[in-house]
Amino acid sequence: MRVAVIGAGIMGPGIAEVCTEAGLEVVLQSRSRDNLDAALDRIRKNQRDLVAAGLLTEAAATGALTRLRLTQDLAEAVTGAAFVSENIPEDLALKQAFIRNLSRLARPDAILASNTSGLSISAIAASADRPERVVGFHWLNPPHLTLPVEITRGAKTSEETMRATVTLAQRIGRRPFRVERDTPGFLWNRLQMALVREAVHIVEQGVATPEDVDEAMRWGLALRWTAVGPFQIMDLAGLTTFRAVASYVYPDLSSASKPHALLEDLIARGHTGARAGKGFHEYGPGAHEALIRARDARLIALRRAMTEEEAGEA
Ligand SMILES: NC(=O)c1ccc[n+]([C@@H]2O[C@H](COP(=O)([O-])OP(=O)(O)OC[C@H]3O[C@@H](n4cnc5c(N)ncnc54)[C@H](O)[C@@H]3O)[C@@H](O)[C@H]2O)c1
Repeated sequence: MRVAVIGAGIMGPGIAEVCTEAGLEVVLQSRSRDNLDAALDRIRKNQRDLVAAGLLTEAAATGALTRLRLTQDLAEAVTGAAFVSENIPEDLALKQAFIRNLSRLARPDAILASNTSGLSISAIAASADRPERVVGFHWLNPPHLTLPVEITRGAKTSEETMRATVTLAQRIGRRPFRVERDTPGFLWNRLQMALVREAVHIVEQGVATPEDVDEAMRWGLALRWTAVGPFQIMDLAGLTTFRAVASYVYPDLSSASKPHALLEDLIARGHTGARAGKGFHEYGPGAHEALIRARDARLIALRRAMTEEEAGEA
């Protein structure tokens, strides 16, 4: 089976890597040669980490690279592909124009999957010749280490497309879950944005620093959430306790309906994130790469611990 992965920014290379490591033929497309070169470097580096962690063999890594093709030509990338994963920037008009073009270049039976973080799949599909073949296929960054994928049904997505996408996700070793209603942010970004909105609000109100919020989250809620989900946490604590806490905390939570002034101010001052050397935190020389390395090492350790624990339970 051949898969085309379009866009070689943060997400595309890792998705191409996962597909090819699962034995699929993959074409990764970007308009920029530099992006393709950087993507190959990133994939090789990811593979070294996976081999060092015992999650991939040297032979499998080498074999995967023989199934990976890089191209700048979109038509060449999608010709013959049964599945196309779109990873271009998060802009509805851009994605609509792109899907319209793709639906003319791709095989009539190809599935066109968007990695949008939460734009409407129905709106993206509206520009396609066959909207029933368009689906949301949303990954978490970094794709080579995270297992769940969110599969979202647009208004016209067929059940056959949903099932085929779930099957593909399983074939490439992912854990698919279905989002049956095309709602902004789907599931992950609704949860994540609710939390991020409150995190920025907490900092804006001078309740705690970004450093402390990050640490409190990593070692507190996030660690516990790897063990049990929010509904299990409520059940364990008792629903009456949660109702009591909710009754006095809810009224005080941020209900902002647009990004906070603090976020706008940071962006206006060029604090756009780690890549720029400053966001909420400052990143000196090498600090951005060091954070990515630390994140990946922690994710590998957590993933291994969770997988071993689950296997022990079975
Ligand atoms: N970054 C994340 O953490 C993350 C996580 C999950 C999903 N997503 C989603 O994945 C998609 C891609 O995100 P990203 O972070 O990889 O973006 P990115 O900006 O890093 O990469 C986008 C790529 O698309 C290319 N591109 C730009 N315009 C194009 C066009 N008109 N036609 C073809 N290619 C074009 C760019 O050159 C670049 O290679 C977005 O929809 C985003 O919301 C991102």
